[in-house]
Amino acid sequence: MDSILVKGNGPLNGQIPIAGAKNACLALMPATLLSEEPLTLTNAPRLSDIKTMTELLQSLGAEVSSLQDGLVQALSSHTIDNHVADYEIVRKMRASNLVLGPMLARLGQAVVSLPGGCAIGARPMDLHIHGLEALGAEIELKDGYLHAKAPRGLKGAVIQLGFASVGATENIMMAATLAKGTTQIKNAAREPEIVDLADCLKKMGAHIEGAGSEVITIEGVDRLHGATHPVVTDRIELGTYMLAPAICGGEVELLGGRLDLVGAFVEKLNEAGVDVIETKAGLKVKRRGDRVKAVNVTTEPFPGFPTDLQAQMMALMCTAEGTSVLEEKIFENRFMHAPELIRMGAKIDVQGGHATVTGVDRLKGAPVMATDLRASVSLILAGLAAEGETIVNRVYHLDRGYEQVVRKFSGVGAQIERIKGS
Ligand code: EPZ
Repeated sequence: MDSILVKGNGPLNGQIPIAGAKNACLALMPATLLSEEPLTLTNAPRLSDIKTMTELLQSLGAEVSSLQDGLVQALSSHTIDNHVADYEIVRKMRASNLVLGPMLARLGQAVVSLPGGCAIGARPMDLHIHGLEALGAEIELKDGYLHAKAPRGLKGAVIQLGFASVGATENIMMAATLAKGTTQIKNAAREPEIVDLADCLKKMGAHIEGAGSEVITIEGVDRLHGATHPVVTDRIELGTYMLAPAICGGEVELLGGRLDLVGAFVEKLNEAGVDVIETKAGLKVKRRGDRVKAVNVTTEPFPGFPTDLQAQMMALMCTAEGTSVLEEKIFENRFMHAPELIRMGAKIDVQGGHATVTGVDRLKGAPVMATDLRASVSLILAGLAAEGETIVNRVYHLDRGYEQVVRKFSGVGAQIERIKGS
């Protein structure tokens, strides 16, 4: 397994290009199952999760071609000759469950393995199942697989989500585009990735109103046609790289960065003493003084502070002046980066869903282990600011969600290299 070697090397200066959003692309790709015509996605990120989704869609009979070094994904599911999403693929990536809604809508049947738990939590699918059953699907769990069928097709319904689940909103919205009649999703997720998916589905001929608000209304149609759609900018990659000048000093411009994608996160950066300025090319970030101030953070569904930036923000708070409390309200086990940061000299006390961080003057480099996607990059951020060398092991987690990390950080002066594993 490869690892990444980072040496604290002072302020970072320059520009970092931000890619298309992993979590948008992973919902956009399954949308190809809703139509027999081609779907072309541009501004796609080059990530291993995209390769996993490609593998899954191809296993169902879809054609997926990766063009221009992965920047363009050309998809076509003219014929779907398999409706079983196999455990071997689904267990690698939970987002595989996003083929359930489209397959049900297109074929009237789907067999999708339950993803199983992952490092950050149990991640059940009850909200997906409740919503699709409301549309008329019959779903039963057998041998770890969800067996879903809708022999008489899907019918519009009013669905109240118990929690504003991103995946459940996406699965239900995609299924509802081909249901008979009107569907209303109440307490819908409001993430930018939901808006991006709705925009793409509308280009394919779907009738959707209210994406981005807590009530989404979908008027079913008989069929959807092909489309070409650019993947929205990745707000989590954006937020991650915005933290680099915050933790190291210097000034970095994030190319393609959009303020509307990171509102609550920027408010916290401002509170901590970090300035974010909109430029023609994106967002420019610079720390005001020599050290940020401790701030409290609670993760919430969009437009609140994103759970996917909690680990990275903790790295910043480890070097802040004062004590901060980070409350993780979305996932039940998303502090696994804390023990690794403690190995670097951080002072963190985790009690259930709260982590209390007392800032230290300087972290010390150490060998650490990535435990999940966002934890891995928080360790790199910590290593960039630490004294001495940090080796981050198990970087396959990183490859799932961050393209060209070494190149992007090196481009602003970081001392970072990838070491080939055995
Ligand atoms: C999406 O996951 C993202 N993944 C996650 O990003 C992100 O952390 C999460 O949304 C929250 O923003 C993709 O978009 C591919 P949820 P998803 O359904 O859809 C519980 C990353 O690092 N829940 O909003 O799975 C669930 O257990 C990944 O890029 C149920 O209880 O998230 C969790 O506690 C990590 N029942 C909470 O809701 C359900 O049926 C949020 O889950 C569904 C979810």
